[in-house]
Parts: sequence; structure tokens; C-alpha cells
Amino acid sequence: MVQILEQDVCRLTGAKYALGLNLGRSAIQLALESFNFPAQSEVIVPSFSCVGVIMPVIQAGLEPVLADVDRHFNLKAQSVKQGLSPRTRALILPHLSGKYAQDTEPILEIAAQNGLKVIEDASQAFGLQHQGTWAGRFGDVGIFSFGLGKNLFGPGGGMLITDDATVIASCQSRTLGRENRESVRRRVAAFVGGYQFPRLKFLGRFALKMIRCDWKSPPEDASLKRFAYPVYRMSDLEAALAWCQMGRYREIIDRRQSNAQTLLASGALAQTGLDLPNPEDHIFTKFLVSTATCPESAMALRKLLYCHGIEPELSYTPLHLRKPFAGYRRTDMTETERRWQGAFAIPVNPRLSPRAMARIIRVTKNFSVSGPKIGSMVRH
Ligand SMILES: Cc1ncc(COP(=O)(O)O)c(C=O)c1O
Repeated sequence: MVQILEQDVCRLTGAKYALGLNLGRSAIQLALESFNFPAQSEVIVPSFSCVGVIMPVIQAGLEPVLADVDRHFNLKAQSVKQGLSPRTRALILPHLSGKYAQDTEPILEIAAQNGLKVIEDASQAFGLQHQGTWAGRFGDVGIFSFGLGKNLFGPGGGMLITDDATVIASCQSRTLGRENRESVRRRVAAFVGGYQFPRLKFLGRFALKMIRCDWKSPPEDASLKRFAYPVYRMSDLEAALAWCQMGRYREIIDRRQSNAQTLLASGALAQTGLDLPNPEDHIFTKFLVSTATCPESAMALRKLLYCHGIEPELSYTPLHLRKPFAGYRRTDMTETERRWQGAFAIPVNPRLSPRAMARIIRVTKNFSVSGPKIGSMVRH
């Protein structure tokens, strides 16, 4: 199944080579290791992202440099320039939430001028295309993730694509074993559990600990170790799940886009005062809203949705504000710091029915910026 998936990803994206791995972050790590950078080389990464972007840099023995993002939470060219140093060798360019990073071209230019390798992180953007080219094909290496919350999703799985024969040979030459059956089983159990009991937070937390295998570590242990994952080949189960969805990736994207358009066209969000996503070059893996001026109102809307059985997805705490990563060099963080507290995602999943979308719109319309009366609203 892994080989079939690899072949089909190559066929779809036009990449020469693909390699299926246990996680997207494993793909980033292997790609970085394949470049053979000298020790203490620096890699620029956006601060508004998950540990899956920074940890592979650290595990590859390199130094992350944290950079600022634009209004859509994608890496800003200006910030990349600011982060450059004589030790910079690469950068990681995500298309967060499925929105094509608007500074992609200038960033690629900066990379070319400075001899930097570009790892294009399309973890949240499987199927996103810009002027006919797949996201993941603009850099030296492209990354996909098939974990929870991605466009094609399952208990895990990631993929590296590239045209570079040296990179793929290096990645393949790492003797990559299979994850043992017990740990795959636990990951699947946690994945299914998360679906069956989404409201049981304690179970979610327990599941996460099981996934990270860190349930024995003391809570005060803030070391990087607990974020570390071993690199493995993708499992057949994960490949099969991704492959089934890949056959109708276009339909999945159409539904996400249609749900997002319904939300935008309803005008329900206009009166919330939040900054809304721009639908251009956007596949809406996440419908991310934010505010630079009033995080309290974003928080209130989030609570209101939750009270009505609609689960908004929390966004990231920027990496530079997280203890284990606070010591790394960073650029000016104006936009990240203005926006992160008011950022969250409203569900637009392909399986949401028109009725569910109507409910989201109705609840959002009832929201008033001046004072949401959450307690007094009727639960549906
Ligand atoms: C933008 C981005 N990059 C990288 C990753 C890492 O992917 P994975 O969780 O499969 O390691 C994720 C997912 O969490 C992500 O959202």
C-alpha cells in the first residue's frame, strides 16, 4: 500500500520521487539530514506553527530561527530576510490551513539568492494548486502529512516528495524500520477514541500522552525529549486510509471550499469583527479566523460555538512563546504576537451537512461583539 500511495502521489503531483513515512515531521527531518549541512547551520521556520515543524530541525542537529508570519499565518518574506545570517542554510515554508503562502515567490527568490534549500511544508495543503502547480513542488522538497486534522487524514502518516535523486537516495538509505505493531495499535486506538468521545477532554489528553509515549515523564519535564518522535516507514494501514481518500481528493476540497463559501456568503461572520480568510488559492483544510485587535471577542465566539455543540479548533501558541523553544534566535514578531490569541478555526469539514452549516451560521449570527450572552442562549 505504501508503494502504491507513493506512485500515485508522484503521478498526481508530477514529482519524480516520493517516500512514505510515519509522520510529516519525519519527512522534514530526513530531508534536512540529506542536505548534510555543517553542524549549527540555521533553518528559518515560522513561529506560528506546531512542534512538528521545529522538532525535526532540532532532531537533525540544526538550529531553528523563528520568523514572523503574514495575516494568513504564513511565512513573511520580510521576516525571512531579517532572519538570515551567514549560518542560514534552509527554510521551511508551510501553506498553513491550506492557504497558499502569498510570499512564496519572493521567499523562493531570497532562497535562490542566498543558496538556501526550501522545504515546502504542504502538510495542511494536500491538493492545493497554484497556477497549475501542486503545493509541495515549488521547493527542493515537499512534505505532506496524513495525520488528524489534515485534508486527507488518519492516525498518522507523512510523505516526502522531490525531484532530487541525491535527496531521495539519502532518505532511502536510512534503514527505516516499521513502527512496532503495538505502538501503531495505540495510535489507532487514540485516533478512534478521539472520534468516539470528542467531548471527553481527559481522554483526549490521555490519548495524546499515549501517542507521545510520555505518560511516565513528570509534568514539569519541559525538555525537548517529549516532543521527539522516532522516524519510521509509513504503515500499510495509514497508506491505505490516505490512498482511499486520495481517489476523491478533489471532491473533498470542493466540499471544504463550498462550506467555506457558504459561511463567507452568509455574512454571519462579518458582524463578528474578525478577520476572515481570503478564499483565493485556499483549500480550507482549516477555516482560520483571527483578530489583531480584540482577542476577547474571538474567545467569546469560540465559547459560544462550543456551547452549541460546534467544536472550534484552537490554534497554536507561537513557538517563541513556548518554554522549550524560547531560547532560539528569532526575528521581530509583530504580526504573530498581535494575532495568535484571537486565532481559531471554524469547522468546514467535508462531511458537514447543509443543516450543520446552517447551525454554525445561525449561532454565529447570534453573536454580538459588545457582549455575547452565552449563558442565556438556548442550546440546540
Ligand atoms: C504545518 C504542519 N507542518 C508539519 C506538521 C507535522 O506533521 P505530522 O504531525 O504528520 O508530523 C504538521 C502537523 O501537525 C503541520 O500542521
